[in-house]
Amino acid sequence: MDFNESLELKRKDAESILNEYLPDADGYQARVLDAMYYSATAGGKRLRPLLMKECYKLFGGRDKVIEPFMAAIEMIHNYSLVHDDLPAMDNDETRRGKPTTWKKYDEAIAILAGDGLLNYAFETASGAFDLADDMQDYKRISAALKILSSKAGVYGMIGGQTADILAEDDENVTKDLLLFIHKHKTAALMEASMMIGAVLAGASEKDVLDMEKAAGNIGLAFQIQDDILDVTGNEEEMGKPVHSDEKNCKKTYVTLHGLSQSREDVKRLSEEAISMIRDLADENRADASFLMTLVETLINRSN
Ligand code: IPE
Ligand code: IPE
Ligand code: MG
Ligand code: MG
Ligand code: MG
Repeated sequence: MDFNESLELKRKDAESILNEYLPDADGYQARVLDAMYYSATAGGKRLRPLLMKECYKLFGGRDKVIEPFMAAIEMIHNYSLVHDDLPAMDNDETRRGKPTTWKKYDEAIAILAGDGLLNYAFETASGAFDLADDMQDYKRISAALKILSSKAGVYGMIGGQTADILAEDDENVTKDLLLFIHKHKTAALMEASMMIGAVLAGASEKDVLDMEKAAGNIGLAFQIQDDILDVTGNEEEMGKPVHSDEKNCKKTYVTLHGLSQSREDVKRLSEEAISMIRDLADENRADASFLMTLVETLINRSN
C-alpha cells in the first residue's frame, strides 16, 4: 500500500472513531447537538487524532484506550474552529467547503455548539478510565487528561487565540509575539496530540518532552503554511476563504517574514521534527516511516 492509500485509511479510521463517540441529536437541546455533529463531521484532515495514534504506536501502544482521546482532541479542534469562524473572531463564512456553523445555524447556536464540543471532549476522554486495567493505566490516563486540558486552555490554544485577536490592527506586532501566537493557537493542540499518544503508551518522561518539541515544530510549520495558503492558496481546494488574514488586518508569518523566508522556515522546522522523530523511533526500535512521511507531506500541502 502506498503512502496516500495508507493516509486515507488512517483518516477514515480516525473519522469513524470520532463518529462513534459523537452524541445523538435528540431532546429539547437537539439543535445544539445537531450543530455539534454538523461541524465535527463536515470533513477535515483529522490530522491531530492521526498524529496521536501514530505516536501511541511508536511507543508500543496497542489498546483501545487511545480512542476516546482521539475523538476528544478532534472535538476540541472542531470547537476551536467553530469559535474561530464567528463574526466576533475571524468572521468567516465557509469552512471545509461548507457554510461555517454560525452561518448554517446562528451565532448563539455556534457559541453553544463550541462549548458543547469542548465539554463533551472531556466527558469522552474521561471514558478512558472505563478501559483501564490497573493503577498504571489510571495514572497514564490522568496524565493525558492534564495535558489535554492545559494545552487546550489559557496557557495553550485559548491563550494563542486571545493574543491573535488582540494583535489585530496592531502595527507593532513583533516576531516574538507572532511566534507566541502560532505556538499557542496551533502548535499546542499538536503537542497535546503527540504527547498524549506517547504518555498513554508509557513513554519515558524524556521521550514525552522530545515528542513535545517535535510536535511544537510541526505545529509552527503547520500554521506558517496556513498563513502562506491564506495568501497563495486556492479557495476551492482549501474549502475556506483566502485572504481572511488580510481582511482582519492580521500580521501573519508571511507579512513579517515574507513568502520565501516563510517557505524556508516550514521546510527547516519540518526537517528538524522529522529528525527528532527518527531519533525517538531508533531509540525505541520502532518504525516511524509513515509518521515521518506525513510530516514531510505537510511542507507542500495545499489544503
Ligand atoms: C485549521 O486546521 C486551523 C489551523 C490550525 C490552521 P486544519 O487545517 O487541521 O483543519 P481541518 O481539520 O483539516 O479542516
Ligand atoms: C486558527 O488559526 C487556529 C485555531 C482555530 C485555534 P486561523 O484563524 O489562521 O485558522 P483558519 O485559517 O481560520 O483555519
Ligand atoms: Mg483565527
Ligand atoms: Mg480563522
Ligand atoms: Mg488561517
